[in-house]
Amino acid sequence: MNEDITFTSDADKSIRYAEIIPQIKHLISGETNLIANLSNITAVLKSVFNFYWVGFYLVDGTQLVLGPFQGTLACTRIPKGRGVCGVSWEKKETLIVPDVLKFAGHIACSSLSKSEIVVPMIQNDDVIGVLDVDSEHLATFDTTDAKYLKEIVDIIISNK
Ligand code: SME
Repeated sequence: MNEDITFTSDADKSIRYAEIIPQIKHLISGETNLIANLSNITAVLKSVFNFYWVGFYLVDGTQLVLGPFQGTLACTRIPKGRGVCGVSWEKKETLIVPDVLKFAGHIACSSLSKSEIVVPMIQNDDVIGVLDVDSEHLATFDTTDAKYLKEIVDIIISNK
């Protein structure tokens, strides 16, 4: 079991992502339980980036249901095609939302959340869930986050 994640706290986010990705791989490599692995990954992302909210929603029939997360209380169920998460699921695409108030249908779990990124978890062409990260600042996320968060999602899928 890996006890500590090491990273350069004052480094650019791309460096921090590159530092933690091999450690995430190692962290989940000895465990096949999805919930356990998602739980530890949210803890890593929270500690390295201090995201306002970071967590997973998992597909449950026609809805997403709240999974492991770090942050404030969240909505438990999101229908397919609703909110940033539900649209990311429907389109099978990563969505970067610089201002959530400008995203039609955004679901405000917290009024403090101002920008968001959602990455779908795709296994054999099916979405099994999404990784959702929220920020209390506008325009926090960019293609760097999209690239590395997708790498993390791909590691999760290939470890299943
Ligand atoms: N804002 C999301 C809902 C989930 S919370 O942000 C944790 C959405 O619009 O899908």
